[in-house]
Amino acid sequence: MVEIIALYGSPRREGNSATLLERAVAGARQQGAVVEEVYLRDHKISPCLEIYQCMKNGECAIRDDFASILAKIEASSGIMLASPIFFYSVSAHTKIFMDRCQSLWVRKYWIEKQPFGRAELTRKGIFISVGATEGKKLFDGALLSVRYFFDVLSAELWKTVLCRGVDRKGEINSRRDYLEEAFAAGRELARVLQEQQSQRSASEKT
Ligand SMILES: Cc1cc2nc3c(=O)[nH]c(=O)nc-3n(C[C@H](O)[C@H](O)[C@H](O)COP(=O)(O)O)c2cc1C
Repeated sequence: MVEIIALYGSPRREGNSATLLERAVAGARQQGAVVEEVYLRDHKISPCLEIYQCMKNGECAIRDDFASILAKIEASSGIMLASPIFFYSVSAHTKIFMDRCQSLWVRKYWIEKQPFGRAELTRKGIFISVGATEGKKLFDGALLSVRYFFDVLSAELWKTVLCRGVDRKGEINSRRDYLEEAFAAGRELARVLQEQQSQRSASEKT
């Protein structure tokens, strides 16, 4: 069974990016995936305190909800992250979670000394984002952050759903094109992961 984690990064529980992620979740479930949904805003997650206790064993020393969410990611083969664009980057809720993953960066590149960019990407991820404006560079900052965030989670940034010109709460509901794109992305992610899983189990049998 393919497992996917869906991370909702907006402070608005029923905001535009959340609506899109719900569509992606529905698509993945229609394809038969098991999806665990996590609303970051509902969890107690401290910002990274830069104390580098993680240099000992690659584990974050701050005791809050971060570890349980990370465990869910580690148990998943797919990740779907949704964040609005805030000041040309991801939301604070999303960024705080990303920064806590520095413990994984430390484990991967300092403790295990893996060469950067050569580790096997075992997961696949989708990034969904929404911004109010229409600029060409609207998603550039967020995409850079997400790419490196996914790297520490051993996830390939496999697909993006990037929506321009959507601002007020609920506005996304009038954008059928984006809603359909998100649904298809979730369904396709589940399908590709299922294919990957069956190839892996076939090669294990031979
Ligand atoms: C703090 C803040 C910063 C924002 N910064 C940007 C921005 O840099 N560019 C942009 O196009 N929209 C910006 N917006 C608008 C949001 O991206 C937009 O309203 C989006 O639809 C919100 O998605 P959500 O409902 O999922 O939270 C900002 C909104 C807020 C509240």
